[in-house]
Amino acid sequence: MKKFYITTPIYYPNARPHVGSAYTTIVCDVLARYKRMCGYDVAFLTGTDEHGEKLERAATAAGQSPSEFVAEKRELFIELWKKLGIDNLRFVYTGQPDHVTSVHRMLIRAKNYPLRYCVRCCLYVHGIEPVNCPQCKQSLEPRDVIYKARYQGRYCVSDERYISDGSEPVNCDICGRPAELISEENYFFRLSAFGPTKPDGDDGPLLSLYRDNPNFVQPSYRMNEVKSFVKSGLRDISVSRKRIKWGIPFPLDAERDDPEQVVYVWYDALTSYLTGIGYAQDENGGPDFQKYWLHTDGPGEVVHMIGKDILRFHAVYWPAFLMAAGLPLPTTVFAHGWIYYEQDKMSKSKGNVVYPEPIIKALDFFGAPGNDALRYYLLREAPFGQDMSFSYGGLIDRYNFDLANDLGNLASRVLTMLNRYFAGQVPDAGGLALSNEETNLRSRFFEASFPLNHGEAEFCAEHFDNLNLHLAVEQLCLLVSYVNHYLTQRQPWALAGSAKPDDQDALRLVLYTAADLLRTITVLLYPVVPRSAGRLWAQLGCEGELWKQNPKELAWGQLKPGRKVGKAEPIFPAFRNKDKEAVLAKIEEFAEADRNRNKPKEAFIPVHTEKKPEAAPATGPELRIPSPQSPVPSPQSQAPCPALISIEDFAKVDMRVGEVKAAERVPGASKLLKLMVDIGTEVRQLVAGLAEYYQPENLIGMKVVVVTNLQPRKLRGVESNGMIVAASADEPGRPVLVTFKEDVANGARLR
Ligand code: MSP
Repeated sequence: MKKFYITTPIYYPNARPHVGSAYTTIVCDVLARYKRMCGYDVAFLTGTDEHGEKLERAATAAGQSPSEFVAEKRELFIELWKKLGIDNLRFVYTGQPDHVTSVHRMLIRAKNYPLRYCVRCCLYVHGIEPVNCPQCKQSLEPRDVIYKARYQGRYCVSDERYISDGSEPVNCDICGRPAELISEENYFFRLSAFGPTKPDGDDGPLLSLYRDNPNFVQPSYRMNEVKSFVKSGLRDISVSRKRIKWGIPFPLDAERDDPEQVVYVWYDALTSYLTGIGYAQDENGGPDFQKYWLHTDGPGEVVHMIGKDILRFHAVYWPAFLMAAGLPLPTTVFAHGWIYYEQDKMSKSKGNVVYPEPIIKALDFFGAPGNDALRYYLLREAPFGQDMSFSYGGLIDRYNFDLANDLGNLASRVLTMLNRYFAGQVPDAGGLALSNEETNLRSRFFEASFPLNHGEAEFCAEHFDNLNLHLAVEQLCLLVSYVNHYLTQRQPWALAGSAKPDDQDALRLVLYTAADLLRTITVLLYPVVPRSAGRLWAQLGCEGELWKQNPKELAWGQLKPGRKVGKAEPIFPAFRNKDKEAVLAKIEEFAEADRNRNKPKEAFIPVHTEKKPEAAPATGPELRIPSPQSPVPSPQSQAPCPALISIEDFAKVDMRVGEVKAAERVPGASKLLKLMVDIGTEVRQLVAGLAEYYQPENLIGMKVVVVTNLQPRKLRGVESNGMIVAASADEPGRPVLVTFKEDVANGARLR
């Protein structure tokens, strides 16, 4: 049996998954299901990328250990995949114990990779043969693939990428954030040895790979990008980080690690594709690794499905890492486009990130298959490979037109008539002569006609084979329209009204034909909308398991006569006009509830109270926010009573309950502490003039009051996003932090 191994990228669990991460995973699920139907032995891997500086910082900001933090977030991915109807998954995470073995094994193999260099011709020679330079015949010098050198350059923590080798300030070309300067001793991977042998040449290991395997990178226009990047010459890349603790120790050899260095997060992450199928299991990899990667018991394909932003890692670095480890390469790296929200890049700060859960929940609420509707929309909306603009209205329209009107209508017409005219059974049309309409339909669906050498049903399958997913779905729509058109032509409802034996035969033939072709469509539909296709399959009373039907073996007349069909229960209820608005409003309602899910309820502090609050006597110490820009005045220096303000003015100050998650001194500033404070919706960085009176470690876990809507300021170069409220005590300048006797949720508002 042929093997098919498909992978999603492993996702950073620093935030919950959104529609972009869902997109790649859905696409892989569609292909995995399709290949299984075609008889392949399929392995489908996804997972989470849990090491690196970005995760380390996110965990610190959340006041958790990195391992606690990632374990919690990992669950969110697993939950969402279930909701999206994704199954038969293997899940890998880079913190799993056997992953260290994989990464170490890869690096040690790379260390032993036979590489030599001709100083005269500036040429790398891979392997142990030939002994001398193939050009000048002089002797060659050995070169290590992994070597140690100093790295100085700009690094983007958000994308975990080296941006430039210079120290000049520069922004990351993917996320646009300023890249940070790093300067440290690192281990390097000699990527240059895998590039062209001479400037702008077209040979060398990577360019030969692309030349010999033109489908290695898809779509083809992305292959051109990759080729020209490699042709322009490759620089060696750093594969370790010194300052970071949260990662896999860099191996010196099979027994010892370098205590100062961890493996660069991308080297670590890419290797998870091997760990996920048992590379670490024994010396030559476990049985699944042998089966799906080494193809020891027969041919197979390996497909990495990724977004366009991470193409270079997969199409340039990854094959070079594998070559250096002496391992086979994947068959295809497919880079799809990005999902934008109504043409705009999704970002948390813009508040336009689309999450799948509210969509699924809202559609389910109205009796529609939410996960299938989303899957369908994502596949149908844009040519696969290109960017797509997401809109909630577009999703409902697409669902209405294609699924509710065309397919839903066809299914309910056929089932209603089978129930009404044939007592809920598939009629027997055996031996009846086909009219022109049936002959045409048969040949359209199943017979070759120029320029196709097979029918259009198989054409649909061919689009799945070629990763033209939007064309496969468009072709399905076309097949549905043929059958709808056929029913309109043949008018079975009119035939049913006639007592003529010929018309009764025609009725049997027409309804059998429509039901049989609906069966064909259901098979082809299954990878895209598995839940709904399963319902349709059951309603049609089809024999056998749906996922076992081979899309390449579909033929005319496969529906068994005499089978009992189900009731015509609508699978895709339509949402027109007002209904559409109601669905959109429901999505918004669930999205809002989702946004507030982690926000605590507001704590209510009565404004008017009989009992005077002890902490605020009229002439006592006033509430102040200690900060170096406004040193806390002594009580003696206070004005007797500030001017009265309106309640509206007071309401402008947003004060929240916060919990101190981390605290440290600001280097070179004796009065300042840098605090990370959880204010419910986020963890804020604040700088406060508390260092003379509070030990940082004593603040951790303390509930404080934060003014959250002050403009950010920089104090000694450290950004402060808000202020902590304190009373100004008797000792001049001594701040006393305001805190709570009762337990109050982080983020609760003071009013
Ligand atoms: N951890 C790395 C991948 C390592 S794979 C060995 C990473 N993670 S990520 O979480 O930032 O991104 C994972 C995938 O999600 C990428 O393929 C990326 O292209 C995809 N997407 C993230 N946002 C997206 C959209 N808005 N639209 C479509 N895909 C997007 O990179």
